[in-house]
Amino acid sequence: MGNDLAGKKVAFLGTGKMGGIILQALLKSGLLSPASTCATVAHEERANTLATKLGVKAGTSNVEAVKGADIIVIGVKPQVVEEVIEEISSHVTPQQLIVSVAASVPTSMIEKGLAPNVPVVRAMPNTPCLLGVGMTAICKGAHASAEQVAMTCRMFDVVGRTVVVDEKHMDAVTGLSASGPAYIYIILESLAEAGVKVGLPRDIATLLAAQTTLGAAKVVLETGDHPALLKDAVTTPAGCTIDAIMELEEGKLRVTLIKAVVKATQRAKELAYG
Ligand SMILES: NC(=O)c1ccc[n+]([C@@H]2O[C@H](COP(=O)([O-])OP(=O)(O)OC[C@H]3O[C@@H](n4cnc5c(N)ncnc54)[C@H](OP(=O)(O)O)[C@@H]3O)[C@@H](O)[C@H]2O)c1
Repeated sequence: MGNDLAGKKVAFLGTGKMGGIILQALLKSGLLSPASTCATVAHEERANTLATKLGVKAGTSNVEAVKGADIIVIGVKPQVVEEVIEEISSHVTPQQLIVSVAASVPTSMIEKGLAPNVPVVRAMPNTPCLLGVGMTAICKGAHASAEQVAMTCRMFDVVGRTVVVDEKHMDAVTGLSASGPAYIYIILESLAEAGVKVGLPRDIATLLAAQTTLGAAKVVLETGDHPALLKDAVTTPAGCTIDAIMELEEGKLRVTLIKAVVKATQRAKELAYG
């Protein structure tokens, strides 16, 4: 992988959970160096903690941070994006690239607040980026080039897999893979609880549930087989699994998960607007 981020100065505006995960991963991978990176947060004491922990320049001034930056990563909450864009707008030029990880906020909304032709790319990561097993969907705004999209992909490849989508799909991505870890944690917690119910020690039940989830996901990703086919391979005629599947169908697991993703997608459509 060519390091076209080498020598680039990157400013992270809003370095909380998600911004912090991406920043840490990029520093750890060597794709960015502390000297070429700066980060902002809302509270001075959080800035001091970040500076000590990561060795980057950290502060509360977004305007200071964007000066001289090649790439500006927007990691504030969706409701704060407009305010931050307004704050930095007169300091941002079309030679810089804005990468926003904010859910719900369209590239057009960001572009509207900036000087003409400033390139904007949107990325929607998830929290497993922390361990390099994240999923990030990326889409381009009106003025971003294919090369800028490719560079953003390379940035997020460091923390997991990336996929480029049309912007119209970004809310669906938010409802599926960005919120998705929460759904899986609930499923894992429930499976572990089930293990306890049938007599397993909690730590063993949690291990069995987590490794089984990891294994099943890996098989889907690596074989490319349809999940229904893989499920059939586990389901012996008149065996145990089919009895469990009947319970899942009666409990409406499928439709519940579908409705959960639909709800989160709908919410993602309105988040930026308060
Ligand atoms: N968490 C996820 O799973 C996830 C997944 C995909 C996308 N995202 C997106 O990532 C963004 C951040 O989410 P998060 O979960 O990381 O939230 P978070 O932990 O609350 O991070 C937000 C950060 O923004 C800082 N901040 C607030 N106002 C600011 C301002 N005016 N200037 C500079 N920094 C400011 C906060 O500073 P303080 O720490 O000082 O308060 C905080 O560090 C959101 O837009 C969200 O949609 C999150």
